[in-house]
Amino acid sequence: SDALLKGMPFYGKKAMVTAGPTYEAIDPVRFIGNHSSGKMGFAIADALARLGAEVTLIAGPTAQRSKQNVTRIDVVSASDMFNSCTALFPQTDITVMCAAVADYRPTTVEQQKIKKQEGEFTLVLEKTVDILASLGRNKSAEQILVGFALETNDEENYAKGKLEKKNLDLVVLNSLNDKGAGFKSDTNKITIFNRALEKTIFEVKSKTDVAQDICEAILKIIK
Ligand code: CTP
Ligand code: CA
Repeated sequence: SDALLKGMPFYGKKAMVTAGPTYEAIDPVRFIGNHSSGKMGFAIADALARLGAEVTLIAGPTAQRSKQNVTRIDVVSASDMFNSCTALFPQTDITVMCAAVADYRPTTVEQQKIKKQEGEFTLVLEKTVDILASLGRNKSAEQILVGFALETNDEENYAKGKLEKKNLDLVVLNSLNDKGAGFKSDTNKITIFNRALEKTIFEVKSKTDVAQDICEAILKIIK
């Protein structure tokens, strides 16, 4: 109840979390997607809510079930996710962008099922909008913006680059080289960089515990 939430660290704060993959339509029966399970983002939404925040979870297509204390908006494409995030962002104190947003989408969506033909088939793709970078450009001094960086090589440099380019307060580095990290896994291993580029390395933990660590890192910088 509301009475119980008073005194919680995020009481009175509005939070927005993105989770899961996006699906970019090719034709009525096909799409471009990725292996994101949504587990990490759902765990973060739940952790923020348990710590007293009023949480909206913007979820791409996933099999995850959200908790009762989280308001959920289901979306399909990067463009849908952009529209929901952009609408909600001005009223949001804390934003954590965990979704594995497709970087490219088919330039045209065929209205009829594409039929197979002889020889090679070429699909032309265009860039999707970078939702996180857009929010970073529109961020006020009071808002906290947290992004993820999923990397396979030169991880720390890419993560720090994303922090700076997207105007983030924290970047959570997820290296696919780390054992126990990954899309389908129930565990994760993260490194967090703050704006001073100070680095905190965490052990392999359950995604529930990783979500708690991310919340604690946010609490440290809360304005
Ligand atoms: N992100 C986003 N919108 C996109 C692409 C990414 O909001 N169109 C967000 C992700 O949710 C994540 C962060 O940006 O918080 C970094 O995503 P990632 O895929 O690691 O980096 P990109 O900037 O897309 O660069 P690349 O995939 O080339 O490494
Ligand atoms: Ca990407």
